[in-house]
Amino acid sequence: MTTDITTDINTAALLRVSPDAEKFKQLLKSAESFRELMTYYRCAIFEVETKFNVLSEEFSLKNDRNPIETIKTRLKTPQSIVEKMAKKGIPLRFSEIEDNISDIAGIRVICPFQDDIYMLAECFLSQDDITLVEKKDYIKNPKPNGYRSLHLIVTTPIFLTSGKKMMRAEIQLRTIAMDFWASLEHSLRYKKNLPDSLKLSDDLLKCAEDSADLDLRMMSIRRQIDAMKEGSE
Ligand code: GTP
Ligand code: MG
Repeated sequence: MTTDITTDINTAALLRVSPDAEKFKQLLKSAESFRELMTYYRCAIFEVETKFNVLSEEFSLKNDRNPIETIKTRLKTPQSIVEKMAKKGIPLRFSEIEDNISDIAGIRVICPFQDDIYMLAECFLSQDDITLVEKKDYIKNPKPNGYRSLHLIVTTPIFLTSGKKMMRAEIQLRTIAMDFWASLEHSLRYKKNLPDSLKLSDDLLKCAEDSADLDLRMMSIRRQIDAMKEGSE
């Protein structure tokens, strides 16, 4: 049985972003290739997630602690793919998806400490089948609202019966504290009609700065413990 991948596309909402949305929805409906493409992106998620799990396993073996707290993955829904294309003014054609939308395969790696992020990113990017497309360091350069994370857009190969195919994926690396902050900020953004949201945004910015400071202090404590352990070995 085949399932209709367009059932979760809310046409009325899409028509508000682009008058072409209905056309694109019809296109997706007939396109077996869209389902195929989404499967490839799911495979790209597997590949990237496995690479991080391997790095984490090896690191924990040597260092007695895990550099990854959790990995969360998500495949972008057809609805938000279409919305993003409309928002960016990309022609609503199937052939435009791969080159223009980089975050269909999304992997979020949550680490205990800030130095875990850079260590993992460096090891991951040095793998010879991974190509960096774009890097945004919102830890060194936080967004004005206080958002912090390291974003990588990469290509990774997936290995199909027909051979190798390169797929894009977006990886967000952040600490537990950054993730905690981002989830609260995300819910605030979707409740924009709150009467004093400006005040809340100021408070949130302050929280981002406080938690970034806490992250640094916790990392410094861990480094001192590491040094003590090394000294006693
Ligand atoms: P888009 O890819 O169109 O979203 O724009 P962009 O390329 O400028 O995005 P960027 O790489 O800065 O961020 C992409 C993703 O990071 C978003 O989809 C969110 O998951 C996350 N993100 C970025 N900024 C924020 C923020 O201010 N708050 C929260 N909670 N998440 C953010
Ligand atoms: Mg982006």
